[in-house]
Amino acid sequence: MAYYSRRLFCFLLCNMVALAFIASSHANLSPTFYDKVCPQALPTIKKTVEAAVKKESRMGASLLRLHFHDCFVHLGGPTWQVQLGRRDSSSAYANETTDLPGPASNLSALITNFNKHGLNVRDLVALSGGHTIGLARCTTFRSHIYNDINIHPSFARNRQAICPQSGGDNNLAPLDHTASLFDTVYFKNLLKRKGLLHSDQELFNGAAGSTTNSLVKTYSSNFGAFASDFANSMIKMGNIRPLTGKQGQVRVNCRKVNS
Ligand code: HEM
Ligand SMILES: *[C@@H]1O[C@H](CO)[C@@H](O)[C@H](O)[C@H]1NC(C)=O
Ligand SMILES: *[C@@H]1O[C@H](CO)[C@@H](O)[C@H](O)[C@H]1NC(C)=O
Repeated sequence: MAYYSRRLFCFLLCNMVALAFIASSHANLSPTFYDKVCPQALPTIKKTVEAAVKKESRMGASLLRLHFHDCFVHLGGPTWQVQLGRRDSSSAYANETTDLPGPASNLSALITNFNKHGLNVRDLVALSGGHTIGLARCTTFRSHIYNDINIHPSFARNRQAICPQSGGDNNLAPLDHTASLFDTVYFKNLLKRKGLLHSDQELFNGAAGSTTNSLVKTYSSNFGAFASDFANSMIKMGNIRPLTGKQGQVRVNCRKVNS
């Protein structure tokens, strides 16, 4: 790991120097942003991410979720051309994350939230397919498995065994039962009312004729359609107000604003 940290550090340095020179000429994102100025950037990131995923299998899910909460990288499953050259924010406020939809959101709240970010209903359903990998804590799905009607009864009982009415807040359950595979099982489960989060099941809520219902059906039986829509929507999501050119800054320590 020390080896990779060193390589990564070199990449960051290289990135900063490069950006100082080209900041004014490259004001847009592009998949080839680092080709000339830092050719070892992508191979380095790829190796580092692969090593991290090998060491800790949940890393892939964490990174995918991070892309939703922030942005960048590609993993197992579909691949897409990542638009590169994004810079870091000069601010970091907990109050600015409140725009993320919560797991208790209903369908109209999810649609409104995604719309606010320029994402449509198709993006919402495709990107929610990100929950084909990873885990969630009891506290995020407790209300769904105890209080909701639109849930398969034996599935609810099964999850209640992992997640008690009180206590065990951090107990984990898979978002779908093939939590390490990028597949269509997430959508197949929604058809059976076996979505783990309330917000997941809202995409297939029994209301006949809803657009999200038919998208869930399509993706459940057509991996190709899911994978290509997912890749397109990931690019779209990655293009939400990115900082480029001279905007923002390039952080020395990714976790904090430069002082
Ligand atoms: C539609 C709105 C969304 C809601 C309400 C939502 C909510 C959640 C919640 C509550 C968790 C569990 C977190 C925890 O236990 O701490 C989770 C996990 C996760 N989410 Fe989402 N999410 C949404 C969209 C997305 C999108 C768009 C992606 C990526 C494309 C994504 C990727 C993930 C992944 C990979 C995990 C598992 C993380 C892990 O295993 O550590 N989610 N999400
Ligand atoms: C978050 O808090 C900071 C510092 O108090 C403030 O400058 C900023 O405008 C706030 N952002 C939002 C979205 O309220
Ligand atoms: C959905 O949630 C929003 C925000 O919590 C709420 O205002 C609205 O009444 C809910 N809509 C439905 C159809 O339940």
